[in-house]
Amino acid sequence: MDIKDTVDLSWDDFDELRQPRAAENDFDKVVDRAISRRGFLGRAVAFGSGAAVFGSGILHSSTSARAQTAGFAFDPIAISTDFNLHVPTGFQWKPLVRWGDALVSDAQDAYSADNGVPVAMSDKVFGENTDGMETFTHDGHVLLAINSEYVNPKINLPEASQGVPQTADEVTLLKNMQGVTVLEIAQGNEGWAVTLDSPYNRRITHETQMTMDGPAAGSDHVKTNADPDGMSPKGTMNNCGSGKTLWGTYLTCEENFNGYFGATGDYAETEALIRYGIGGEGRYAYEKFDPRYDLTQEPNEPNRHGWVTEINPADPSSTPIKHTALGRFKHENAEMVQGKDGRIVVYMGDDERGEFMYRYVSNATWSEGQPTDGLLSDGTLYVAKFNDDMSGEWLPLTPETTGMPIEDILVFARMAGSKVGATTMDRPEWIAANPLRVEAYCALTNNKNRGVKPNAGGDETPATGPNPRETNNFGQIVRWRPTGEDHGADTFTWDLYVMAGNPDVYDNAYAGSDNITAGNMFNSPDGMAFSSDGMLWIQTDGDDSNEGEFAGQGNNQMLVGNPETGEIARFLTAPNGAEVTGLTWSPDRKTAFVGIQHPGGSWPDGNGKPRSSVVAVWRDDGAVFG
Ligand code: FEO
Ligand code: CA
Ligand code: CA
Repeated sequence: MDIKDTVDLSWDDFDELRQPRAAENDFDKVVDRAISRRGFLGRAVAFGSGAAVFGSGILHSSTSARAQTAGFAFDPIAISTDFNLHVPTGFQWKPLVRWGDALVSDAQDAYSADNGVPVAMSDKVFGENTDGMETFTHDGHVLLAINSEYVNPKINLPEASQGVPQTADEVTLLKNMQGVTVLEIAQGNEGWAVTLDSPYNRRITHETQMTMDGPAAGSDHVKTNADPDGMSPKGTMNNCGSGKTLWGTYLTCEENFNGYFGATGDYAETEALIRYGIGGEGRYAYEKFDPRYDLTQEPNEPNRHGWVTEINPADPSSTPIKHTALGRFKHENAEMVQGKDGRIVVYMGDDERGEFMYRYVSNATWSEGQPTDGLLSDGTLYVAKFNDDMSGEWLPLTPETTGMPIEDILVFARMAGSKVGATTMDRPEWIAANPLRVEAYCALTNNKNRGVKPNAGGDETPATGPNPRETNNFGQIVRWRPTGEDHGADTFTWDLYVMAGNPDVYDNAYAGSDNITAGNMFNSPDGMAFSSDGMLWIQTDGDDSNEGEFAGQGNNQMLVGNPETGEIARFLTAPNGAEVTGLTWSPDRKTAFVGIQHPGGSWPDGNGKPRSSVVAVWRDDGAVFG
């Protein structure tokens, strides 16, 4: 397969194409009968008195009996299929920052509709494909840290290249359009805007110098020719979801790092490389121009990526830290909470079909004002096991439980999870913890391989527990409540907050759960965040063809879910082609900042190239929302 034929693939389709797969087995035979056979899913229980999501114990019913949305502080909107962005009546939106917008005065003319951004200006502008982001306040300044997950080479490079970089400069351009942007914003007569030339404005790219801590730092797995001590990795890549520490720093989560590496010659194919989908040709041909990305020359370089990386937005000269104690996998986001005793707890998903959900717990406790040293480097990594009886447990990944040295456990966390029998999940994306109740939610975006084939480690993927549908193209959101209302507890109970589906097309489990209606349906939940009033904001990254089993679902969207009643209402629809990902609020919570990634058409400018953007959304009456 030529690299130019893979340029337009999504990351998961790219991995699917090149990930070595087990030969056809019994699972493959299941797929043909999957949809017709599964009439209903049977047993499911609801939490508490108010959560009647699956009250009848049956996960679907006729459309007429489905929940009606009510009680939201906005009128839910219809689907859209156009190339614009829509919000409810009484709300306004405008772009806050677009791909190519300047961070410094020198770069004000850097972007052009015809040519995008020149390489010389590429680290002085906002990157492409916005994703996770968080708001910070420091000395009266409002700062945003925002991920730029990946690049669309056809948009960034000259048309003649067909999206394949031809020179080292073109590789540099692609590298610089990704990573993290820290920028200051301020509110003026025109609303929120980027503060040009703020000393806080900063780009962190594939080339930025970093450090590493935790048990795998300095291990043989992470040593390279350029860094024989294995303590000084460069760069962060495929920055997907985000997190915010309780002490006010940013966590950027490295997801599809595997696709950045390729081989120009021979290399040793290992079980670990296969499990992580590393090998062959890189997506962006980096390896042809930069030995760091060449498996033939630097076989350990991929081990220095796939981590949760901490950045201090308040100090532009600070060195980002890769925290190996939190494990290496395709990190979606990092949701930090505290256990009852004050230990730091971080929930994390590994977004790959049939991979796992994780939790990190620090050894030390913390309270505001205390030192933070060691909180993300000295602790235990756990992996989730969900039981069919709606109970679950966090299984510690230790040398005793896995038979692996600790540095192997962390660098090859997926293999450690397989050893202890973790539950294979339907692509764990964002995890969000309810600020008003001790519970957390994980978006399981979809998994066409559920019940069809094992994961890349050979773990089976039966349609059971929180992943109950074979060939799951719609996705669901699982939530769990820790025992004793303590995020530090090792056991929990779980249910499904929602199963997405299409009640217009199906009259079985693929119609979705009772809180899915013809008026609010969607597919592929992905980004999630709670507002301060305890409402769950759900962003989608799915099939926006509005055809077939996705008919009536329109473009990707952002919805609001009530955790108590299960009701879900559509708040925003994206331009066709885009996913909605990344959500944070201004400090006064009167403005939401929403990420619109890979839009189609020529949104938002109406001419030239489509521009991934963060938009500001606010109420006409200026009231708090969120
Ligand atoms: Fe970058 Fe799993 O989304
Ligand atoms: Ca995502
Ligand atoms: Ca996704």
